[in-house]
Amino acid sequence: MTGEQSERIPLLVLFGSQTGSAQDVAERIGREAKLRQYAPRVMAMDAFDVRLLPEESLVIFVTSTTGQGELPSNMKQSWRFLLRKNLPADSLAGLAHAVFGLGDSGYVQYNVVAKKLTRRLAALGGRAVIEQGLGDDQHPHGYEAALDPWLACLWAALRTEYPLPPGAGYGPWRPYMARVLKNERITAEDHFQDTRHIEVDLGDSGLAYQPGDLLAVFPQQRESALQDFLHRTRLDPDDWVRIQPADPAARVASADVEVRVAALVAGVMDVAGASPRRFFFEVLRCFTRDRAQAERLAYFASPAGREDLSKYNEREGRTALEVLQDFEDATPPLEWLLQAMPRLKPRYFSIASSPRAHPGQAHITAAVVEYATPHRRRKLGVATSWLAGLQPGSPEARVPVWVEPGVMRPPDSDRPMVLIGPGTGVAPFRAFLEDRLAASAQEGAAPVAPSYLYFGCRNEAKDFYYRSFWELSQRSGVLADPGGLVTAFSRDQASKVYVSHRVRETSAQLWAALQQGAVVFVCGSAKKMPQDIAAAFERVCMQEGGMTKAEAAKYMKQLEMKGRYIVEAWS
Ligand SMILES: Cc1cc2nc3c(=O)[nH]c(=O)nc-3n(C[C@H](O)[C@H](O)[C@H](O)COP(=O)(O)OP(=O)(O)OC[C@H]3O[C@@H](n4cnc5c(N)ncnc54)[C@H](O)[C@@H]3O)c2cc1C
Ligand SMILES: Cc1cc2nc3c(=O)[nH]c(=O)nc-3n(C[C@H](O)[C@H](O)[C@H](O)COP(=O)(O)O)c2cc1C
Repeated sequence: MTGEQSERIPLLVLFGSQTGSAQDVAERIGREAKLRQYAPRVMAMDAFDVRLLPEESLVIFVTSTTGQGELPSNMKQSWRFLLRKNLPADSLAGLAHAVFGLGDSGYVQYNVVAKKLTRRLAALGGRAVIEQGLGDDQHPHGYEAALDPWLACLWAALRTEYPLPPGAGYGPWRPYMARVLKNERITAEDHFQDTRHIEVDLGDSGLAYQPGDLLAVFPQQRESALQDFLHRTRLDPDDWVRIQPADPAARVASADVEVRVAALVAGVMDVAGASPRRFFFEVLRCFTRDRAQAERLAYFASPAGREDLSKYNEREGRTALEVLQDFEDATPPLEWLLQAMPRLKPRYFSIASSPRAHPGQAHITAAVVEYATPHRRRKLGVATSWLAGLQPGSPEARVPVWVEPGVMRPPDSDRPMVLIGPGTGVAPFRAFLEDRLAASAQEGAAPVAPSYLYFGCRNEAKDFYYRSFWELSQRSGVLADPGGLVTAFSRDQASKVYVSHRVRETSAQLWAALQQGAVVFVCGSAKKMPQDIAAAFERVCMQEGGMTKAEAAKYMKQLEMKGRYIVEAWS
């Protein structure tokens, strides 16, 4: 878990609901709480062991009133317990809570359950964070008329009481605009691929991370593509629209915002990156008057046209803008574009630095995506081509980022690691080893078990990323010497050599490391690499451990279950 996650404040939402409305409200509170970085649990009051209530620190109660002022059936037991005469008056001392009631003012016993609960909680020493809220079915907007402002007050009151830890406020809804400190090509100029070592400044954001975490990056789209899109769709970039999140969890009274159309398009719609889905073609057809174009679009959107659509669209990496340019008569309005356009998605990069070695910074290793389609159209990756062009130090060079937890976590430094990272898969291992180096340099540091790095690329002279750092790690004893730096340069000899071959060739040292409790990490392309490495490890077990194939497979499965064989791969 990241520091951020472990610092989430627990919040319990308990509901008493007869026909489901109070449960809906409780679940909404749970979703909103999650968005606000709390750690919510939502359950019916009777599903919770109410004797444990004093151990909770923050509880939101949501309850309806049923019958003639009666309790919903799924809170009766808890209520009986709370009413016990022998409960001391300070039983719930320190319990911060809030109560929202659902009722109907047409009944004499209007919201009586919520009112009684509020009184009883106070009598037992509980502390109301805000006044109880009462929803009324008689209101033209139902209980939500009272719920929306009540929730806005609740979140504001809680935020004052439980401020977010520094950095926890950044996420997809509010990325931190990090300055670019360094943007260096780390492949030879004449190499086919441009791979970048990029350093960003996390400044005073408070964004914290650990080795193994990911830097999420919201890419900025090419200005020329955005202009072409606005022009083609006849959208006025200077129009203002009011937007509201579709997810009710994110919808609070204050969540409606007005944005310029230009900003909405740039931030939400992937204009010139991902290929649109079939639904996009269906929508275009509805807004086309030209018969021939409408027929073609209808064909693409039909089951019969699936194969041809795939050839035209996905396999050619066709973008929404290109499709719109091909079908020039189709001009859907903004509300349909919002539903049908591909969403602009964040990209994740393994963090290649240790916060101990580079406080306040995050480094990534980004391979710029560039390829040709079957019809020889040149395609560039949206995020990586944009990142590659950022000028360090320039005020415009800002990268919207936040931190996401990765699946890999280095073990304590007395345990060896086997790090298998071909290509940019090696990025997180720079963070792992930097961290061990920094830790071992501290006074009184515990001894570090030497690890093994397996790196693969095309040519030793062209794309051997971070070579001097691995060599330093070996000299410092963080990587085993000899044997700790194993390389496979696939194109430096007549026959191709990959890291999986090296795993087999070095079976004795790997088997010994496994016997010493090593944790194996495999990171990089999801295409074929993880299977090849897994197969190579099975061979190691068979050769060195004298196992049958089935025994080796079982042994590997067990390693995986124990968290000693961890794969992070992407396509
Ligand atoms: C957990 C995780 C960690 C990651 N870590 C790293 C990292 O450390 N470094 C790194 O560089 N990337 C990393 N990635 C990948 C990264 O998130 C992006 O997907 C990648 O950089 C491409 O983004 P882009 O916007 O430039 O390309 P996009 O515009 O998204 O284009 C990529 C798409 O183009 C297509 N494509 C690419 N090449 C070809 C081809 N040869 N033929 C046909 N189609 C092709 C594929 O559909 C691919 O999905 C990671 C991903 C994950 C999930
Ligand atoms: C049979 C019945 C009896 C009700 N009795 C009361 C009542 O006595 N007092 C009140 O304020 N609301 C009363 N209501 C209104 C409900 O509390 C309200 O509709 C609430 O939203 C239902 O929430 P629930 O689905 O979580 O039970 C009653 C509703 C029904 C259907």
